[in-house]
Amino acid sequence: MTTWRPRQLAQQTGRTFVITGANSGIGLEASRDLVERGAHVVMAVRDVEKGEQARATLSGPGRASVVHLDLTDLDTVQTFAKTVSTEHSGLAALVCNAGVMGGPYLLTVQGFERQMATNHLGHAALVTALWPLLHSVGGRVVVVSSIAARRGRLSATTTRDELVEPGSAYDGKQVYSNTKQANLLFSQELHRRASAAGSPVSSVAVHPGVSATNLFTRQLAEAGSVLAPVSKVLTKVALQSASAGALPTLRALDHSTPSGAFLGPARFGQLRGRPELLDVYASGKDPAVAARLWELTADVLGYPLPV
Ligand SMILES: NC(=O)c1ccc[n+]([C@@H]2O[C@H](COP(=O)([O-])OP(=O)(O)OC[C@H]3O[C@@H](n4cnc5c(N)ncnc54)[C@H](OP(=O)(O)O)[C@@H]3O)[C@@H](O)[C@H]2O)c1
Repeated sequence: MTTWRPRQLAQQTGRTFVITGANSGIGLEASRDLVERGAHVVMAVRDVEKGEQARATLSGPGRASVVHLDLTDLDTVQTFAKTVSTEHSGLAALVCNAGVMGGPYLLTVQGFERQMATNHLGHAALVTALWPLLHSVGGRVVVVSSIAARRGRLSATTTRDELVEPGSAYDGKQVYSNTKQANLLFSQELHRRASAAGSPVSSVAVHPGVSATNLFTRQLAEAGSVLAPVSKVLTKVALQSASAGALPTLRALDHSTPSGAFLGPARFGQLRGRPELLDVYASGKDPAVAARLWELTADVLGYPLPV
């Protein structure tokens, strides 16, 4: 195992990053670090007011800007990409970080299951829309997956309905695992396709262990759990910090991390610790499953993915 320390990540002056879900948890902590290293971070958030409040907690020498993006509405993905493309000519990296876990069966504006739409579909659309900016400077796509990906059940025969409209068969916990498996499969397939096409864009996946963020608090609140009001305190005591959870993302941005890598804590059942280079989980490894996901995703979006 290789031990990596945050000081190994270079200064990022003059480089631009897009981070989805940058107002909270891991996305906010990654933004904080990058702004401290001189970067310009475009904070892609669904609630601009919350985004501005989060931005106010960051301090330079770099800077951050807040731009609206709701991954559950594919139209806003296009609007977001147009705004960013007008203001920037290249992206050092796009960090696909935003996510939701569990909750009731809800459909998005375009009629897709909310967790898969937020965690995978919206990000696939965003990668496609921002591809020219990534391509122009040899940028990197970082996808935030999870140890839950190990329980994902997407296969080479998964249907379109199973992916985005599971209906009465809905199992929120299983779907979350499937979305995180999709993140890993997507990252691996992107790496394979970009390499085969000779594209300068690289692709890395991470998992953040289990970290104290709003992810669990929101899940408990949506389930009406009696633990919801105290969950913030409980998670802070029991779990590693959000800034520790952001370290795999930061290591993914280090030039020493190769395309195709998967990073995350390796200790205590991968729940916590410093980011290490890991073997890709069996659920995220099979090229036939990844190809099926790629094909279904393009079909659902209605246009081809970038490579
Ligand atoms: N925390 C962990 O232990 C853990 C473990 C494994 C994987 N992860 C992954 O880490 C990533 C970051 O989560 P986190 O733990 O930092 O949780 P978090 O604090 O809840 O942050 C999630 C972020 O995603 C945003 N988001 C949710 N739905 C969105 C949408 N439709 N459009 C745009 N943004 C949206 C949230 O915005 P709002 O604030 O407006 O809701 C928030 O900024 C997720 O992909 C999660 O699956 C986390």
